[in-house]
Amino acid sequence: MAEFTLPKNSKLTKGNEYDISGGSKNVKTFFIYRWNPDDGNQPSIDKFTIDLDKCGPMVLDAIIYIKNEIDSSLTFRRSCREGICGSCAMNIDGTNTLACTKSIKSMRKDVKIYPLPHMKVKKDLVADMKKFYEQYSSIKPWLTSNTAPPSNKERLQSKEDREKLDGLYECILCACCSTSCPSYWWNGDKYLGPAALMQSYRWIADSRDDATDERLEELNDSFKLYRCHTIMNCAKTCPKGLNPAKAISEIKKLIVTKDV
Ligand code: SF4
Ligand code: SF4
Ligand code: FES
Repeated sequence: MAEFTLPKNSKLTKGNEYDISGGSKNVKTFFIYRWNPDDGNQPSIDKFTIDLDKCGPMVLDAIIYIKNEIDSSLTFRRSCREGICGSCAMNIDGTNTLACTKSIKSMRKDVKIYPLPHMKVKKDLVADMKKFYEQYSSIKPWLTSNTAPPSNKERLQSKEDREKLDGLYECILCACCSTSCPSYWWNGDKYLGPAALMQSYRWIADSRDDATDERLEELNDSFKLYRCHTIMNCAKTCPKGLNPAKAISEIKKLIVTKDV
């Protein structure tokens, strides 16, 4: 079950209720987590009932509609609206996913929207991603090669080597997987989590990268890597259909076979 990191000493309270459905038959109610660090109030759940004929088909469309028409202070991240930037990740009806690719029709009942679980909240639906990005940076997510690049052309790869990156390079760093991983909830300060580990494997699997041994040595740590207990929440929740647990097990296998 997802848990949420509420501000210290806080109690979740009933918030404001708004109904601008105007008698429409096509209505939906959204319950949305609200917290503003500047007003000193407890976090609350606001209730918004809207006419779905007046907004687009995705949950993000509804949130934008609510912000435009009811409460301009509602705070969330979004950029591409196409499932590419990863910024609209949030917890919708108990599952971490992208608001821009989650269709409203796919949810029969009222919709409950919270920030990503187990992250500090900056405001409303905006989670603090600082630690997550620091962990990503720690795996050195760039090509490391012992040879100079060929002049005026790319470093080439065979078709087969390129295919080894499928299922890895598509990751958009939305953090849905890491924030659904119980091991990451409990040890998020030391365990790198599925997103950073899969990104690390993306470079380990790259035929053009020469730093495999260093990367494996760096990961061979009881907390950074071995807190993964193959619970598989990461693969279940990834909105891009990726499987970080598989990448993690490939790293573990390589560490054993290479005897790092
Ligand atoms: S693996 Fe999937 S859930 Fe995890 S960060 Fe990448 S895209 Fe998001
Ligand atoms: S498989 Fe590993 S990384 Fe994925 S949710 Fe489970 S413990 Fe976390
Ligand atoms: S807004 Fe970019 S992934 Fe949703």
